[in-house]
Parts: sequence; structure tokens; C-alpha cells
Amino acid sequence: MPPTVLNSVFNFVQFWDGRAKNLQEQALGPITNHVEMGHDFNNLIPKMEKTHYNDKFKAIYKDGITPYNITNAIAEFEKTLITPNTPFDKYLMGDNKAITKDQKEGYEIFKNQGCIACHHGINIGGNLYAKFGVISQLKSDSKGRLEVTQNELDKYYFKVPTLRNIELTAPYLHDGRIDELEGVVKFMAHYQLGKSLDENEVKKIVSFLKSLTGKINSY
Ligand code: HEC
Repeated sequence: MPPTVLNSVFNFVQFWDGRAKNLQEQALGPITNHVEMGHDFNNLIPKMEKTHYNDKFKAIYKDGITPYNITNAIAEFEKTLITPNTPFDKYLMGDNKAITKDQKEGYEIFKNQGCIACHHGINIGGNLYAKFGVISQLKSDSKGRLEVTQNELDKYYFKVPTLRNIELTAPYLHDGRIDELEGVVKFMAHYQLGKSLDENEVKKIVSFLKSLTGKINSY
């Protein structure tokens, strides 16, 4: 599944397998990839120069429309797609009433059970690679980082994804194999931590995860 562009500026690398090191490098792929947009810059740029983009680019970039400047502009735009000030952010900043009792308990369980070992930092994820299936083996068509590094030790390693706005970005996991948040929380507990959570704990974690939903640029 395509990872969300929301808050992607805070991820340490882009894509599930980290094959692009930043947003600008990511933006280059789809423009020329034949299964995505299939452009050739040698044809695209003269076409763009005949449109209003010509003046707009000249106003910002000395050398006008170039592959570098196109991807730079896209990356700069993507940096604005952030969703700050979620209820959980407000809670962390001291507003004790910003999240519910269930969400607070869910946050405690999230920390105590060890989810936080991988999902942490500004994006509650997006900081490291981790194996898909730490405790029990999993199978997947994608081999994760191995496909980028060709190193057998990287098999099934994926970027730990952000959990911001997670209630809005189903289906879950790199291959979209799970549709419900409850299901993915149980899956994580089992495969990543070797734990089985009771229904109540799962519900509270899900409730906590919903406190990570925000609006674009809600400063
Ligand atoms: C050892 C590291 C690790 C631990 C511990 C861990 N996760 Fe994850 N989590 C991951 C990785 C890696 C993925 C991405 C897996 C994939 O699809 O390849 C992921 C994916 C997810 C997703 C789906 C994200 C999406 O965009 O599809 C959710 C939700 C999630 N984790 C929640 C949790 C919860 C809740 C816990 C604790 C019960 C937890 N995780 C524990 C590493 C971890």
C-alpha cells in the first residue's frame, strides 16, 4: 500500500523499504516510472515551459524548470502536509483534558507492552527499520530492505511506519493485509512482541491511536 504523504517529512527515509532517502528523491520515481506517470523529462520540460509554470518556476528558481527544480517544488509542497496539534500532541503539551481516560490508559499499555520500542518520536514511527515478524516468522511477497541492499540480513525489514492519522489510512501493513485497527494491533502484539492482549487492552490501544488523528496545518 502506498504510505501516506501526511507527515512524511518526519520519516527518516521514504517508502516501506526506505528506497528513497528523502521526499525529493521519492518524487523523482513516479514521474518517470512507466507504470506510474511515464514521463520523459526531455519531452515534459518543453511542454511545461509553454504553460504558466514557466513564469512560476522562473520566479523561484534561477534556472527555471529542471528535473531537480520540479522535484524540489513537489517536496517543498509535501513538507506542508503535516497534521500537528492532535489531541495526543495537546496532551503531551500539558492539556490533561485533551484525551479521554481510555486513551490515557491505551497510551500506558502502548508503552508498557513495548510498542513504543519501535513506534516513537515525532511521528510515532518513521525512525528506524524493524523486522516484519520479530517473534514469529511471517511471509510476504515483498522482501523489504533486502530488495534495496541485496543483503540477506535485511530480509523482511521494513521502515516502522508513522502512526499519525492511522485510523484514516486502512488497509494496514505494507501489503494491506489487514483492514481493521483492532486486527493490526493484535497482529503487532503477536508477531512483534510475542504477546496476546485481551480485548480490553486492544480497545484501549485503538482508542489511544485515534488520539493521533489531526488536520492538515492545524496550528
Ligand atoms: C519490533 C518493532 C515493532 C514493535 C514492537 C511494534 N511494531 Fe507496529 N510496526 C512495525 C513495523 C516494521 C510495521 C510495518 C510492517 C509492515 O507492513 O511491513 C508496523 C506496523 C504497525 C501498524 C500499521 C501501520 C500502517 O500504516 O499500516 C500499526 C497500527 C502498528 N504497527 C501498531 C503497533 C502496536 C499497537 C504495537 C504494540 C502492540 C506495535 N505496533 C509494536 C514495527 C513494530
